[in-house]
Amino acid sequence: MQYADITGWGKYTPPARLTNDDLATFIDTSDEWISSRTGIKERRISHINTAHMAALAGKQALARAGIDADDIDLIIVATCTPDNLVPNTASKVQQLLSTNNSACFDLSSACTGFIYALQNATAQIRMGMVKKALVIGAERMSWFVNWSVRDTAVLFGDGAGAVVLEATDIECGLLEAKLGCDSNAREILNIVNFGTDMDRYENPPGPLQIDFNGQDIFKRAVRSMGKATETVMANTNLAVSDVDLLVPHQANLRIIETLQHKLKLSDEQCMVNIQKYGNTSAATVPIALCEAVEQGKINPGNNIMSAAFGAGLTWGACYIKWGDRVTAVNDYTQQEQQCEQSAKELLSVAIKHCLQ
Ligand code: ACO
Repeated sequence: MQYADITGWGKYTPPARLTNDDLATFIDTSDEWISSRTGIKERRISHINTAHMAALAGKQALARAGIDADDIDLIIVATCTPDNLVPNTASKVQQLLSTNNSACFDLSSACTGFIYALQNATAQIRMGMVKKALVIGAERMSWFVNWSVRDTAVLFGDGAGAVVLEATDIECGLLEAKLGCDSNAREILNIVNFGTDMDRYENPPGPLQIDFNGQDIFKRAVRSMGKATETVMANTNLAVSDVDLLVPHQANLRIIETLQHKLKLSDEQCMVNIQKYGNTSAATVPIALCEAVEQGKINPGNNIMSAAFGAGLTWGACYIKWGDRVTAVNDYTQQEQQCEQSAKELLSVAIKHCLQ
C-alpha cells in the first residue's frame, strides 16, 4: 500500500500590507468594526500575479523537501483567481519552476480548493499513478475586489501556500477526507459579471465584484465544516483529545471559534493566522499549515485535521497523519519578496476606478 507523505511546505505572503486603518482612509469602515466582526487586522496585496506567487511558494516547498522540480510528476494549483483561463495557471507555475516533466492542472473549488487538491493528489499517489506531487493554493483576491463595497472589501487578501507529496510505504499523509458541495446555495457567494453566463454583446457585463450573503454563509460554514470534521473523526476513530492541531480555513475568526467550540477543541489545538492575512481563499489552509510547521506546532506523527468551505458551496475536511519531516532539508530565499510600493500605492488605480 502506498501513502502520500507531506515532505515539503512553503508559502509566499506578499510584502505590501493593507491595514484596517489604511482601508478606513477610503471606505466607510473602522479597525474596531473589522477586528471585532472578523478578527482581521491586515491583509497582503500582491505586486505579482497568482502563478508567480504559486511558484514562489512551490520553490520553497521543493527546497524544504530537498527535491528537484524535475522530479515532480504532478502540479495542481487550487485557485479561483487564475492568471488566465487558457492556458491554466499550473502550466505557468511549471514554466517558472524551469521544468516540463509534470502533468499540470488548475482546480476551481474556491476556498475549499486546497483540500480538494490534496485529496486528489493523494489519491493519485496511493493508486500508484504518480510518485511526487506539488499541491498549491494560490490567490490574488485583491484583483476581484470592488473597493467601494465595504462588506467584502475588508475580508480578502493575496497569498500562496504549497506542499510536496511523496509516495511512501509508511502510513502517513492524508488518510481520510470527506468532501461535498451544497449546490442549492451556489447563488449566495459568487463573482458577478464574469464567465459565459454573460451576454457579451447585447447586454455587456458590468464591473467585477464578489457578491455574497455573509450571514447565511457564516451559518452554513460552521454547519458544513463541523459535520465534515466529525464524519472524518468518526471514520478514523479519532477522539477530540487525539487531535493535535486543527488547521481551518481562515474566513472569519468568529467562524473558526464557533467551529472550535462545536468540536470542543482548546485554543492550543486550533491554528489561527487570519489576523495577518485575511481570507486568501484556497491559500489559507496551506499558508496556515506551513506556518504551523515553521512555528513548531506540528511534530512527527501528529494528528492534523483540516476543514474548509467556499463558493459552490463546496465544503470538506481531512485527516492528515504527519510523517517524520518537520525540519527543512534545504531552504530557499525568495528574492522576489521586495516591493517598492505600499499596498495603497499598488491599489491606487483600482481604488480610483471603484470609487468613481
Ligand atoms: N465596516 C463597517 N460596517 C460594515 C462593514 C464594514 N466593513 N460591512 C458591513 N457593515 C455594516 C452593515 O452595513 C450593517 O449595518 P446596518 O446594521 O446598519 O445595516 C452592519 O455592519 C452589520 O452587518 P452584518 O452583515 O450583519 O455583519 P456580520 O456581523 O454578519 O458580519 C461578515 C459580516 C463579516 C461578512 C460575516 O457575516 C461573515 O464573516 N460571513 C461569512 C464569511 C464570508 O462570507 N466570507 C467571504 C466568503 S469567501 C469564503 O471564505 C467562502
